[in-house]
Amino acid sequence: MKIRDSGMPEKGMWEGFFSPEKILETLGINQGVQDAVEFGCGYGTFTLPTAKIISGKLLALDIEPEMVEMTKNEAAKVGIKNLEVVVRDFMTEGTGLKTESMDYAMLFNILHLEEPVVLLREANRILKKDGRVGIVHWNYDASTPRGPSMSIRPKPEDCIKWAEIAGFYSARRYDLKPYHYGIVATK
Ligand SMILES: C[S@@+](CC[C@H](N)C(=O)[O-])C[C@H]1O[C@@H](n2cnc3c(N)ncnc32)[C@H](O)[C@@H]1O
Repeated sequence: MKIRDSGMPEKGMWEGFFSPEKILETLGINQGVQDAVEFGCGYGTFTLPTAKIISGKLLALDIEPEMVEMTKNEAAKVGIKNLEVVVRDFMTEGTGLKTESMDYAMLFNILHLEEPVVLLREANRILKKDGRVGIVHWNYDASTPRGPSMSIRPKPEDCIKWAEIAGFYSARRYDLKPYHYGIVATK
């Protein structure tokens, strides 16, 4: 089941909203991270830079075959080898990953979904002890140039509360200017 309000504008416009490398650095995605999983990779905006940075493998999931194809093609163009991009509905099927197998879970621009705690629980399940979840979302501000409708857009404090319910602790919040905030929490 595709999460609500998860359509995207064209690639160039979407990628103009972020500085992916800076965001990854702020959220602690660096060489010290071994294996990671990305829930909903979209155009691969954060997928390719993450695969280039981490020391292990990245698994990127998306329900849309065309998003998966685009991300795969972009990765092939630049010779990225430590990335697997798979068509999968993580809401109805989960990730398919083993319990306590990953070091970092990326939930970027998707936590406005219907059941955020269900997704965060799946992220918690697959993370090793001391693994981290990174959340990115649009600021709770109706003047951002895109983003889900304000009626379903989560505030940072909502994301922190849901993460704690799902078993994470030590949540820290970051300002990802100009339009986003980030949260990193630990299992
Ligand atoms: C708003 S986009 C964000 C993409 C990427 N995380 C980013 O920040 O650039 C949300 C993505 O999640 C995917 N998606 C929505 N529901 C999904 C589901 N149930 N399982 C897997 N992917 C899903 C959509 O196809 C879309 O590519």
